[in-house]
Amino acid sequence: MRQALLLVLLSCLSAAAEPQPANLIANVPGRTTYSLNGVWRTIVDPYETGLGIRFYENRKPRDKADLVEYDFGASPTLNVPGDWNTQRSDLFFYEGPLWYERGFTYHKREHTRTFLHFGAANYLARVYLNGTKLGEHEGGFTPFDFEITNAVHDGENFVVVEVNNARRLDAVPSVNTDWWNYGGLTRDVELVDVPETFIRDYFMQLAKGSTSEIAGWVQFDGKRSRNEVTIEIPDANIIYKTLISPDGRAEIRFDVSKLGCTDNSPAKCPKPLQLWSPETPKLYRVVISGEGDRVEEEIGFRTIEVRGHEILLNGKPIFLRGISMHEEAPFRGGRAFSVEDDQTLLGWAKELGCNFVRLAHYPHNPTVARLADKMGLLLWEEVPVYWGNDWKNPHTLEVAEEQMRDLIARDKNRTAVALWSIGNETPIVPERLDFLKSIAAYARQLDSTRLITAALNQRKQAAPDVRELDDPLGGYLDVLGINEYIGWYDGRPEDCDHMEWKIAYDKPVIISEFGAGAPFGNHGDADARWTEEYQGDLFTRQITMLRRIPSLAGMTPWVLMDFHSPRRFLPAVQDFYNRKGLISNRGQRKQAFYVLQKFYREMAKVPQP
Ligand code: GCU
Repeated sequence: MRQALLLVLLSCLSAAAEPQPANLIANVPGRTTYSLNGVWRTIVDPYETGLGIRFYENRKPRDKADLVEYDFGASPTLNVPGDWNTQRSDLFFYEGPLWYERGFTYHKREHTRTFLHFGAANYLARVYLNGTKLGEHEGGFTPFDFEITNAVHDGENFVVVEVNNARRLDAVPSVNTDWWNYGGLTRDVELVDVPETFIRDYFMQLAKGSTSEIAGWVQFDGKRSRNEVTIEIPDANIIYKTLISPDGRAEIRFDVSKLGCTDNSPAKCPKPLQLWSPETPKLYRVVISGEGDRVEEEIGFRTIEVRGHEILLNGKPIFLRGISMHEEAPFRGGRAFSVEDDQTLLGWAKELGCNFVRLAHYPHNPTVARLADKMGLLLWEEVPVYWGNDWKNPHTLEVAEEQMRDLIARDKNRTAVALWSIGNETPIVPERLDFLKSIAAYARQLDSTRLITAALNQRKQAAPDVRELDDPLGGYLDVLGINEYIGWYDGRPEDCDHMEWKIAYDKPVIISEFGAGAPFGNHGDADARWTEEYQGDLFTRQITMLRRIPSLAGMTPWVLMDFHSPRRFLPAVQDFYNRKGLISNRGQRKQAFYVLQKFYREMAKVPQP
């Protein structure tokens, strides 16, 4: 009897941990939207008193005797999108609940459904419309939306959001990170209008290993009449129609080379697809229509796979000339969110000679991947399973899987995204392996067209000049990311000169981090820490060392730009900045920038076999 009860309990727990399918509206920028960005009223609420006294009702005193101990209208403001830490100096170190409020006027339209969409809110968000709770969202870097078709008023409305960035052991990330815990409504907030029956989500890419077969699906939401969906790629004269099955889903699979010519005119015969690559980032306008709805998207077609030590793009080996990057705004600091921020950061990566960027350690804003599509930069995208986590906690796994699910849902049509990373520098303990195996399997289930990786750092010192990596997680990855700090946390830069690497897997390796700290303009001997000369020398020796690794398929040194970190204290050197950037937070290029640029320019000239 006790055993039966235990089994039931366990199945409930495991059932509870199974994340729900993504329910996000794909391609929000391609829909009819109304921005709620701008100035919002705010109340800082360290004790979360606002929940009990119902801040979400946004109440005004009924009369002079009525007791209401808050007033959004008279409260300070914050800009949305944006973190609160860099907007108000009194909030720089603030971690906890903070309430946002704003009103908006909305005119309802017939046969229209309306959603309230958030690009991200760090960390836990409770959302209310006109005093009624819409729901909650946990996770600071992925989008979420609520349908408000029946809750929104024709006329005046108000939305209240409690955002709480307090760190918790069972959260993802957990309590310790080497980046600033920027809180707030950090990305766009908008209303999204769609027809009663609409194209909720879709996925379109080349089938694995094919350069002419397109595979994917389209998911409709709402009543349907004709049950037919059309895919058009006008620049390639492609028109493909198929049926929608009863659950609203249409499977898409067709070979461009086998499609007939539209109305048999040779001018309208489908053209072979020009494949996307960093050198030729060709994007096609893809139009999906059916049941009275129509969305269009820019998609490039390419294949990404592994073969032994090699990463193949469109069937050819590619060396990933990369850099790691945080979502820190250049010059002003704080969480980056604007097109300008992203263009500056990716522009610097291009200037370095990169064809690849590792977006560390969490999903960056959605504009980054769209820009990378256009600029010809392959991407590594990661969920913030970072350092230690509450590995045995089903809630923690569920939150981590939901972040993976929503990142894939949001960026699956981004051509630039080549790798999904399931974590960074996690300790080798059994429960961690189970946790990450589950996420890896889930990511493969959601997207079989991309590569799964993780940044590993648990290596053995087999001898003073031998480093061995045999992390069991490597067995579940397509590509091994390795973080190593030879010459900074591990020995001296000259140790690179004789260092040998032993890697237990016959898989491509990306050195996902190496680096050294140096504030811009700090000069001195190459063996003096914190000088640009030390950082530059270390990069020279690292590059030479890494080129000796036979399975090296790429690198993303740490890091593009200095970024805020609560773990960096050295006065007049760090001042709450991690100084391992090749560029300072003011855009000044350090010596190491040019060392890496020179290497990448040489590599770019090397014809790939
Ligand atoms: C780690 C970690 C980074 C961190 C870096 C550093 O490897 O992954 O998040 O910033 O090292 O110490 O500078």
